[in-house]
Amino acid sequence: MCGIVGYIGEQCAVPILLEGLAKLEYRGYDSAGIAVLDDGTVEVKKQKGKLNNLVNSMNGFYKEAVSGIGHTRWATHGRPNNENAHPHTDCTGKIAVVHNGIIENYMELREWLISRGHSFKSETDTEVLPHLIEELYQGDLVDTLQQVISKVEGSYAMVAMNAENSGELAAARHDSPLIIGLGEGENFLASDIPAILKHTRNTYILEDGEVARITPREVNISDSQGRPVLKEVFKVQWEQGQAEKNGYPHFMLKEIYEQPRAIRDTLAGRVSLDEGKVTLKEIKLDEEKVSQIDKIYITACGTAYHAGMVGKSIIESLARVPVEVDIASELRYRDVMMNENTLVIVISQSGETADTLASLREANRVGARTLAVTNVVDSSIAREAGDVLYTWAGPEIAVASTKAYTTQLVAMYLLGLYLAQKRETIDRGEAVEIINNLRELSTKVETTLQNGEKIKQFAEQYSNSTSSFFIGRGLDYAVALEGALKLKEISYMHAEAYAAGELKHGTLSLIVEGVPVVALATQQHVYDKMISNIKEVKARDATVLALAPEGFTGIEQVVDEAVFIPEAHPVIAPVLTVVPLQMLAYYMALQRGCDVDQPRNLAKSVTVE
Ligand code: M6R
Repeated sequence: MCGIVGYIGEQCAVPILLEGLAKLEYRGYDSAGIAVLDDGTVEVKKQKGKLNNLVNSMNGFYKEAVSGIGHTRWATHGRPNNENAHPHTDCTGKIAVVHNGIIENYMELREWLISRGHSFKSETDTEVLPHLIEELYQGDLVDTLQQVISKVEGSYAMVAMNAENSGELAAARHDSPLIIGLGEGENFLASDIPAILKHTRNTYILEDGEVARITPREVNISDSQGRPVLKEVFKVQWEQGQAEKNGYPHFMLKEIYEQPRAIRDTLAGRVSLDEGKVTLKEIKLDEEKVSQIDKIYITACGTAYHAGMVGKSIIESLARVPVEVDIASELRYRDVMMNENTLVIVISQSGETADTLASLREANRVGARTLAVTNVVDSSIAREAGDVLYTWAGPEIAVASTKAYTTQLVAMYLLGLYLAQKRETIDRGEAVEIINNLRELSTKVETTLQNGEKIKQFAEQYSNSTSSFFIGRGLDYAVALEGALKLKEISYMHAEAYAAGELKHGTLSLIVEGVPVVALATQQHVYDKMISNIKEVKARDATVLALAPEGFTGIEQVVDEAVFIPEAHPVIAPVLTVVPLQMLAYYMALQRGCDVDQPRNLAKSVTVE
């Protein structure tokens, strides 16, 4: 939700800020803006719409400035227009602020500031920040920011500049990510690593409550009480190319094709076929602790929640512990029965999702054991969970989650096997079989990716449909939910996922001639039932695209189009089944002229609740 950049050094700030924003546009793209300090004055430029609108309006805007801040917005308070775009300024125009998050008490602060003579130009919560700085300022920007954060409630990553303190930027964070990139004679600020990767790999990750003074040569960080904090440098390991498109037309397509590599990396060093064992060295849950666990909650949002649904099925069947899966925005406000014998698994690609983080904190608060599955090293969720199992998908830039999802599924298999080993609920033969399947998985995903052309043709044929349905049973139902979400998210076509046996309890009335139905039939034990459900929709003249493993012959005779995926152990099938569904969403979005990587109204990292 919103991307922030900052620069202070000796180079021209404007191109650095714009390039940084381009790398963060996935976080929000309703409007963009920058503020630079030039010759003792703060100059602001902002434009509604995508970053390109801002870039095209620059016309040599303050090329000589060597410090500045920038922002790409995902609107929360106030429409996406020029007035509400960041940076926001105070009454004098000397102070500018960019902010990511929500200031929850902004209404009362705004009223108080108005009573003190301040006038506001936007509908945003953020605008109270520059006015608060103006109101409280006594010569030191960082000291003032300390006072400001003691008055605001909510979540924020913010960077401020003041014409009167021209040699520095001030930054603070609470519940929204902010990193400082350390250069030589220059320093950078950003919401996420890709924005600074071109310039430096050395970073400080700002923690909640910390405030930073950033000059070209120094970064001084203090805690919420103003005491100096000594930070360790966090060295970024990503290659820059990982955050680029590398010749693909869209990040999403690149990320779909990166799945074999992402799966291999996530499995690397964690499974041993000879021993029939999973080794998760980073997890501190030993036999004794695992044996005490009598209930597991998995909590997450969106696609990560769908990975959790697969996780429930795997953990229950392998480790024989009851598992509940809860949407994080629900769990956090529910009176959940958790205690020290509960294991709470949170899944989050970004590691910053506000609702997931809040659920994790609640679990920690009541003394439950917590374990995070995340793709971002040192993210808030990674730092606050008792244990962390990283997925090694690499940076995922497209808003639609693809390789993050499949690696989350791999993490669920690893955890299921790990817990089963510790609880002695799995025999060696079964463990070896699943591990063998996991080792063959990336090659099978490569084979599945070869179905692109067939899927593309189906998408071309049905791209004018207004509605579509995804049906499946058991694990296939969980994947159907993910397929429908993907299609809605990026192609804007209505899609609904149904447990196939449930259709006749109401939804079948929507199945009429030509309605596309995607039927997932990978689970042998309910295959016959699935065929009956497919016949039910065919009898209503729906057009059916079926996904089934190669050995499941006969299905092509009852459907309009069949895509076969390589045979695999049924619990592994979701990783293979979802790939054609990701491609279906991709080609459908292309066909319908949608913005694949940045779908409307959405953002990659949802750091507001
Ligand atoms: O970063 P997270 O995994 O916590 O994000 C959760 C959801 O916002 C995310 O999975 C979302 O549903 C995807 N954009 C869907 O493709």
